[in-house]
Amino acid sequence: MTSSPPETAPRTAASDVPRLRVRDLTVRFAGLTALDGVSFTVEPGSVHAVIGPNGAGKSTTFNVLSGVHRATSGSVRLGDAELTGLPPHRIAALGVARTFQNLALSAHTTVFDSLMLGRHRLTRTGFLSAGLHLPGAAREAARHRERVREIAAFTGLEDHLDRPAGSLPYGLQKLVELGRALCTEPRLLLLDEPVAGMTAPERRRTAEVVAAVREGLGISIVLVEHDMAVVMRLADAVTVLDFGRRIADGPPEVVQRDPAVVRAYLGQEATA
Ligand SMILES: Nc1ncnc2c1ncn2[C@@H]1O[C@H](COP(=O)(O)OP(=O)(O)O)[C@@H](O)[C@H]1O
Ligand SMILES: [Mg+2]
Repeated sequence: MTSSPPETAPRTAASDVPRLRVRDLTVRFAGLTALDGVSFTVEPGSVHAVIGPNGAGKSTTFNVLSGVHRATSGSVRLGDAELTGLPPHRIAALGVARTFQNLALSAHTTVFDSLMLGRHRLTRTGFLSAGLHLPGAAREAARHRERVREIAAFTGLEDHLDRPAGSLPYGLQKLVELGRALCTEPRLLLLDEPVAGMTAPERRRTAEVVAAVREGLGISIVLVEHDMAVVMRLADAVTVLDFGRRIADGPPEVVQRDPAVVRAYLGQEATA
């Protein structure tokens, strides 16, 4: 893995990036309240971390934002669009992309094709007509391939495009997931524990890529992460959850010193 800074691959105009407003979000699963009246706002172009001990409701928050879970009550607005109640593909069509806590790649698919999958929502003529050699389709397909190569360079995957995703080290596979999400040209990127399970160099590299995404693409990022060093380095704002409730919200250096946050994390350290 190289340590040179990623090349920029800008596309999304910062003015296109809407504010994300989460208001009084509650999610109940058969008697268990996973989220209890949680509110936070993600400013356009910022990295907003959602942190908290295991079981705090971080993944549930993501699953509501991406349409996998339905909120019991509350609202999630991206600009003027209400996301709660929309199915995942409608939310994706509004420019929301996510990665998963566990790898969600097809092991035998090449890195190139894995990234191309991210272009799917953007194809006007569609891959089928490209296969049928319809007019315009070849040019459009060439544009998508070029963009995939740009994003591969941006994420440091350019030397691995022909390899099956499953043959790469774990850290690179996670970058393929991130690259695929970027290939959808999102306005809002949801990253669920992007450095979990990585080696120290992989963590550094991934943090660099996320920082470059923020600087270069100007999109908003919601980051769920356990690694506090990564959160402190990358986040503009932090929302802290504990047992489904918001216990703190603000700039990282303030939240880090908040007594309720220290207590929640000390409790976890004791059992970790
Ligand atoms: N599909 C589900 N059905 C029932 N309970 C769930 C489901 N998903 C999550 N939970 C519960 O909701 C709580 C929050 O989980 P989660 O959002 O995964 O926490 P985190 O990601 O912060 O570790 C936990 O108590 C978890 O067991
Ligand atoms: Mg989780």
